[in-house]
Amino acid sequence: MIRLEDITRRYGDETAVDSLSLEIAEGEVCVLIGPSGCGKTTTLRMINRLIEPTSGHIFVDDRDILSLPAEELRRGLGYVIQSIGLFPHLTVAGNICVVPRLLGWEKSRMVDRVDELLKLVGLDPNAYRDKYPRQLSGGEAQRVGVARALAADPPVLLMDEPFGAVDPLNRERLQSEFARIQRELKKTVIFVTHDIDEAIRLADKIAIMRDGKLQQFDTPEEVLNHPANKFVHDFVGADRALKRLVRVRVEDVMRSPATVLDGADLLTLQVGAGRRRFAYVVEPDGRLIGWVDTLGLDEGSVPEAALTRVVPADASVRPDDSLRDALSRMLGLGFRSIAVTDRNDVLLGEVTFAAVEDAMTEGDEHISNLPPEGAA
Ligand SMILES: Nc1ncnc2c1ncn2[C@@H]1O[C@H](COP(=O)(O)OP(=O)(O)O)[C@@H](O)[C@H]1O
Ligand SMILES: [Mg+2]
Repeated sequence: MIRLEDITRRYGDETAVDSLSLEIAEGEVCVLIGPSGCGKTTTLRMINRLIEPTSGHIFVDDRDILSLPAEELRRGLGYVIQSIGLFPHLTVAGNICVVPRLLGWEKSRMVDRVDELLKLVGLDPNAYRDKYPRQLSGGEAQRVGVARALAADPPVLLMDEPFGAVDPLNRERLQSEFARIQRELKKTVIFVTHDIDEAIRLADKIAIMRDGKLQQFDTPEEVLNHPANKFVHDFVGADRALKRLVRVRVEDVMRSPATVLDGADLLTLQVGAGRRRFAYVVEPDGRLIGWVDTLGLDEGSVPEAALTRVVPADASVRPDDSLRDALSRMLGLGFRSIAVTDRNDVLLGEVTFAAVEDAMTEGDEHISNLPPEGAA
């Protein structure tokens, strides 16, 4: 879909981007990452033709972009940037419609599109379409920025540190929303960040740069398990095992839990629970109520006394949460397993600490004999 061939960009004696070659398949998220000044923004702006390469070629859909009129090219690329935000004198709706208006869309089509996009990015259209940018929080403004980039449904999205100006909590929220939207829309995305956690979370492929040179271009798993050199190894950081958990979803490792209906005879539990020590107690419709420890049960047990009630929203995770979320929830609660529920609190499964440990050590091996720093 997008192919960079031996792209170099010089400023005087300085080389901002140095012989960069990359290929991004349709529907993939490629995260471009590296320290400040390594050439990420320059690369993105060359794809958008805001900057011309000194040498090399860039192909979008097998067409050399230097041969396309810049306007035609940019219409096919949605661009989200960190610093130049929204036009302050335009409402949210006005901002979202900048490109559709250039394309001469009918008014009714634009009105529908605004509502559709605001819903997609998690903002209530009635509450937001007529607001001005100064009336928005940082996170809301970023959502509108994403909606604006998606307005004319471009096949390619270029995002330059789109969540960079947002506080950590909102940043995580925006990341999971982006992941959800991307699962739905399957755009081809080039996403720039300097945050390795964000990269591991969102990327299909990570391109790690340093001083304008590509250090490694691989899946997050490969980057974590087989860093190409010492620079990548150090850049990824010490907690590689924990980072791996971000890539695994709860639904991929959950198992079916031992359950018992509320009000059932707890003495039948040891059998019903398949000799597991803990069993979840559910309503007839499957909603989670709590759990019992079958070890302490005997003839005199009062069911209600053996039951530990939980608030499902606090004591369970969702199927599309990451194992990292599941682990922090377990650690916070002091449990060695955690229930998986849907949005109606219906029990779907459980994730055990052992499953988390397995995921952490998977692919783990001795990282030794790394090539020296800077070698690709
Ligand atoms: N217009 C410019 N003139 C001179 N040097 C520039 C210009 N734009 C970028 N550079 C240099 O190119 C290098 C890469 O910049 P940039 O792509 O913005 O890095 P990043 O986005 O990774 O932080 C930096 O060393 C920067 O100083
Ligand atoms: Mg930059």
